[in-house]
Amino acid sequence: MKIAILGMGNVGTGVYEILQENKSEVCRYLDKEIIPSKVLVRTLNKDRKLDIDDKVLTDRFEDILEDQDIKIVVELMGGIEPAYGYIKRAITHGKHIVTANKAVIATYGKELEELANQNGVFIKYEASVGGGIPIISTIIESLAANKIQEIVGIINGTTNYILSQMTRENLSFEEALKLAQDNGYAEADPTSDIEGEDAAFKISILTSISYGINVPSEIIEREGITKVQKSDIEYASELGYKIKLLAVSKKHGNSVEIYVHPALVPNSHPLASINNEFNALFVKGNAVGELLLCGKGAGALPTGSAVLADILSVAKAIKNEIGNDSKINDTDSNIEIKGIGKSQYYIRLQVIDKPGVLGKVAMIFGSYGISLESVVQKGRGEISVPLVFITHDIEKEILDSALKEIISYKYVENIASILKVEGM
Ligand code: NAP
Ligand code: HSE
Repeated sequence: MKIAILGMGNVGTGVYEILQENKSEVCRYLDKEIIPSKVLVRTLNKDRKLDIDDKVLTDRFEDILEDQDIKIVVELMGGIEPAYGYIKRAITHGKHIVTANKAVIATYGKELEELANQNGVFIKYEASVGGGIPIISTIIESLAANKIQEIVGIINGTTNYILSQMTRENLSFEEALKLAQDNGYAEADPTSDIEGEDAAFKISILTSISYGINVPSEIIEREGITKVQKSDIEYASELGYKIKLLAVSKKHGNSVEIYVHPALVPNSHPLASINNEFNALFVKGNAVGELLLCGKGAGALPTGSAVLADILSVAKAIKNEIGNDSKINDTDSNIEIKGIGKSQYYIRLQVIDKPGVLGKVAMIFGSYGISLESVVQKGRGEISVPLVFITHDIEKEILDSALKEIISYKYVENIASILKVEGM
């Protein structure tokens, strides 16, 4: 069965290698070979370190569109354009789509699914969330009989890799990011990873398939990891926590609480021990209860594995002449989209070391009804020292009001850090 691959970068190379290495497994499943007969790239004469025939490579998308033998187009270029346009044109030419592109699926997923349905073709996107973890098929198929209630997870490999390397190997943010890029985990523009956009795309996709609600990724409350300092990681560790970038989507009646935020996770929680490029997702369904899925969330081969699962599933449907009869979720416009609800917070202040400063700050917290779980003060005899608090549950607006008063106190130099503490 002939397929075309758009893009031969990290993931494309992984798919190509798996097809060569695991040919017999593919044949056993499908009773046919999968042959990438055309591969679209930007630069034809690049050293690809791959055993790939020059005749297979093209920089003209039309070569793929016009080839009647190509039944499946696998989009692994990334970004919105030209990927989105190519996917649409391939669908209207009757070609099935497999993509790893979370930006396109989070932004245009519903429209593309409708277009695919109208044209009688499949569009599959397992690799768009969680790398090698089969999270999309688990939610759509294995949990089809459940009402999904919540999803909480680590769904960006690059940021988890950076935080793990800063925690365990004492690397700087920049050193850890460089390693994540060298390992092929990061997006072409890593800003998307470190600013939480990538995780917002992914939690938007998971929310859509879980509750049938389309939440545009740009309205999701999000913060990345660029403000997380090494000292926060050290204080968190002393207090019994790890810092993780969490993506959360919880359905409460007619509202959905959805956000991406760096959070302190108690060491006793399973997510605290998910390190490096690994991702993990808790999914709660009303029948199944809690499930934990964990695996490599980025990288050529794990992501390639998810892409091939989709290719094989579509190829089998083609072979067995099974059409696409999937139902598109109707968006429920009565659902309210909310950000972080009541939560515990970690706050690091930089203050002048004078008797009574800690007492005064604690008193201001108290006057706003904010009770404190832990307080740590480090350093003595220095002019300026860090003062770290963990609060009990509080609304963010109330915390902000208290912090406004705290920062106006003459011995408080700055609010160095505010992080969520995830109540698990
Ligand atoms: P990448 O290494 O940057 O590779 C992109 C490929 O697309 C390159 O081969 C490039 O061609 C080609 N390309 C880009 N723009 C093109 C254009 N305008 N015309 C023709 N070809 C073009 O990206 P990647 O890391 O493999 O990621 C691919 C997709 O998978 C993205 O959507 C990403 O979000 C998703 N994903 C990645 C991972 C991961 O771990 N990396 C995991 C899950 C999902 P040249 O080689 O000629 O430059
Ligand atoms: N850049 C993404 C990550 C790739 O680091 O998780 C996987 O989607």
